Amino acid sequence: MNTEMNWNSVCWKSPSNIALVKYWGKYGQQLPRNASISFTLDKSYSQTTIFFRKRQSDQLLLDFQLKGQSNEAFQLRIAKYLDRIVETLPALNDLELRIETENTFPHSAGIASSASGFSAIALGLCSIAEKYEPLPREFFQTASCLARLGSGSAARSVYGGAVLWGETNWYQQTANEYAIPVNTEIHPVFASYRDSILIVSDGIKAVSSTIGHSLMHEHDFEHARFAQADQNLKKLQMALQTGNQTEFVQIVENEALSLHAMMMTSKPWFLLMKPETLEIIHRISYYRERKKIPIAFTLDAGPNIHLLYPESAETEIHAFIHEELESFCYQKQVIHDKVGAGPKVFDLS
Ligand code: DP6
Repeated sequence: MNTEMNWNSVCWKSPSNIALVKYWGKYGQQLPRNASISFTLDKSYSQTTIFFRKRQSDQLLLDFQLKGQSNEAFQLRIAKYLDRIVETLPALNDLELRIETENTFPHSAGIASSASGFSAIALGLCSIAEKYEPLPREFFQTASCLARLGSGSAARSVYGGAVLWGETNWYQQTANEYAIPVNTEIHPVFASYRDSILIVSDGIKAVSSTIGHSLMHEHDFEHARFAQADQNLKKLQMALQTGNQTEFVQIVENEALSLHAMMMTSKPWFLLMKPETLEIIHRISYYRERKKIPIAFTLDAGPNIHLLYPESAETEIHAFIHEELESFCYQKQVIHDKVGAGPKVFDLS
């Protein structure tokens, strides 16, 4: 490390993730009402550099920049976030921080930028704090807990491959506070799965996820939904382990449509799919019938579609997207991603 007056820095690249069983509904300090499982992505990531030095004065400690531009709304959100996590990483109390972050995908592309963003920040803060004092838990477990406090789905992005977050009987050593990797229980066909993200709209979200989650309280289908998620997780665990792609398709699509069904039947309701979303879903279903290739669609809380398929079908699926789906996407935008190995650190000091 340099002298006390100079800035040191750490840099983490952390990917977004796509949920297969969805997290929708939370309580307490960002704890999930049901366990969820996701694939961590590869090309869709945030790259976050945190500059740090000993505090020179009582002045506020934080400066935040997105793509080289100060952003007041984000800065406020990060400042609140830091207030919440200094309890876990007290070393931060004595530091000044400058955070610079960039995403490889458009901010509004409907890809969970909060998952990649908060996991990258949490990992960076853990790297810094551990230079001054031992972390309260193992490194990635601490980072997952802290990422969760920024955004629930971010808890899953600190690991690569298949990741589980939340207590469930179907896996060992699960917790609501942090995610765990479950790659040893995954058939090789899924380890190289592809995810082509079809950008139907790059508009601002119609409903913030925090409001969306809160609408699960006293939702007419509240209890049925959490029971369904638990059963889907049980079935998915088996499908992932045995490489059963037919079952995988059924569960993943059931989860996506159930998530949207919850939003459509909450009070107030939200209908986030666009006509193009439905057109694409019908075409995917028809293509699967015709070609007998196990492709699955899933959606987050927005109109964009993630198309999941095995690596072996890549050439055919790219042609299908180009010929039949791309024209329903906003400016024909498609991001071809895949299951990735997880975050990477670049220690610059
Ligand atoms: C539909 O993680 O964005 O993508 O915890 O309020 O930040 P907060 O919510 P967030 O919710 C993600 C919901 C989802 C499903 C999922 O990723 O599991």
